[in-house]
Amino acid sequence: MAEDHSESAPKAASSEALQPRAPRQKEPVQAKAKDTPGDTGRRAFVFHTMAGFITLLIVCFARFFFPRTLFEPKTRFTIGYPGDYGFGVDTKWQQKYRIWVCRNASGLFVIYARCTHLGCTPDWKPAENKFKCPCHGSGFDAEGMNYEGPAPKPMLRCHLEIDPTGQVLVDSLNLYDFDVGTKQFKNLQPGTNGPLLVV
Ligand code: FES
Repeated sequence: MAEDHSESAPKAASSEALQPRAPRQKEPVQAKAKDTPGDTGRRAFVFHTMAGFITLLIVCFARFFFPRTLFEPKTRFTIGYPGDYGFGVDTKWQQKYRIWVCRNASGLFVIYARCTHLGCTPDWKPAENKFKCPCHGSGFDAEGMNYEGPAPKPMLRCHLEIDPTGQVLVDSLNLYDFDVGTKQFKNLQPGTNGPLLVV
């Protein structure tokens, strides 16, 4: 009688599969290579480059919240009471508002402290009773009238008012130009003090 091998063959194969396998030999772990000085230098370079880049980004982001704004002085402001100013030239507002407050026999007036040549700020020279421009030597008398150097005309005067509290209000955007020919200020507005307070 012929043997039936058709069932016994797979059985043999599966019993082989159940045999415990020999444990796999672990591959030896390779020892970590030590950093060379070149590696350390490269790593430091990358780190510092990244840190610099991130700092730059943060600065740019923060700068966004501080727009470039020019803080200019006010152009309409009070300077105290007329009685605060005696005869002569008072320079106490020169730094803050670029003006000189002057009084003569006619009244109180305010000169805008800008040379009419190229716009420098002249210096008041009390000993010589004149304004002297340090840039190109123009000279102006105590009323701001030019008389030496390249300045082509007198210095401008500010519009003045008395505010409701009785203080002198200066408008340094509203300036008066003196016409040497007619000896009058140009663009005087009727019904206003113009550049002179008779006080
Ligand atoms: S700017 Fe004053 S003399 Fe030139």
